[in-house]
Amino acid sequence: MFPTDRPRRLRTDGVRPLVAETSLSASDLIAPVFVDATADERVAIESMPGHERVPVDEAVARVEEVLAAGVEAVMVFGIPEAKDAVGSRAYAADGVVQRAVRDISAETDAYVITDVCMCEYTDHGHCGVVEDGAETDPTLTVKNDETLDLLAETAVSHAEAGADMVAPSSMTDGMVGAIRAGLDDAGFAEVPIMSYAVKYESSFYGPFRDAADGAPAFGDRRHYQMDPANRREAMREARADAEQGADVLMVKPGLPYLDVVRDVREGFDRPVAAYNVSGEYAMLHAAADRGWLDLEATAHESLLSLKRAGADLILTYFAEDVAESL
Ligand code: PBG
Repeated sequence: MFPTDRPRRLRTDGVRPLVAETSLSASDLIAPVFVDATADERVAIESMPGHERVPVDEAVARVEEVLAAGVEAVMVFGIPEAKDAVGSRAYAADGVVQRAVRDISAETDAYVITDVCMCEYTDHGHCGVVEDGAETDPTLTVKNDETLDLLAETAVSHAEAGADMVAPSSMTDGMVGAIRAGLDDAGFAEVPIMSYAVKYESSFYGPFRDAADGAPAFGDRRHYQMDPANRREAMREARADAEQGADVLMVKPGLPYLDVVRDVREGFDRPVAAYNVSGEYAMLHAAADRGWLDLEATAHESLLSLKRAGADLILTYFAEDVAESL
């Protein structure tokens, strides 16, 4: 007996590309960049090899590097000069992101997306204003509704600086609706919102919290970010954000949550983004350093898997390296 069904026929070098179901292209990728108002020179981020925090006056140069690698979209994160209880540097007209974005949008052709959150700007490191006494009482947490106005104000200040798209990541209930209303009232009806709609309370964010100095000073984020145990709830989050006007729905992290990427792809008619987060990047680098994995091949396979799961666009620290290798 010989097999009649022989899938191997379609695996020759000649035909493989013709029958490939998924492909990766530089136009799918968004490169995160870190701008640091406290730095006067570039500072390497130890846990994210190849990435640096750059001073505001080097933001344009940093984005030019991304563009030269063939990636046309950036996500700007800021490290402010000062932090306080209400994250006031997040929505200051002369804040770090606002200054950097003004320069980047004036001097480059990059598509500029900004992260809208408060954790890098609050002295307690939470993603919004917290209830009095939260330092010592673990039942107290971020004040949801009081945070909404500040997020809207932040998004508007980013749009005023020239951001092409805003990406709220604070997991505040109602954030997309509040930001949409704020942008519309301020004359930015054309600025789209990419919501971090399904964001898990993940331990894979560790290296980022070093990079952006945004680790919570007390407690954790499980009162507002999603429980990794939950899949059904992801649809509830995505639906809420879609109804409030999110133009793009993001799932974060990426690789540990491919089932959720697929669910959101199938459940909604909006573009789906996946965030291949700092821990996913750091893991491959650490293993490659020891000679245990091939970095370029595993990075490519990771991003291709996110596409296969249903992501249309991918935020990744591998953006420049992968774009150059394509
Ligand atoms: C801000 C934010 C975080 C990340 C992106 N935006 C940190 C967090 O929620 O703790 C993490 C990204 C990464 O790990 O690559 N809220």
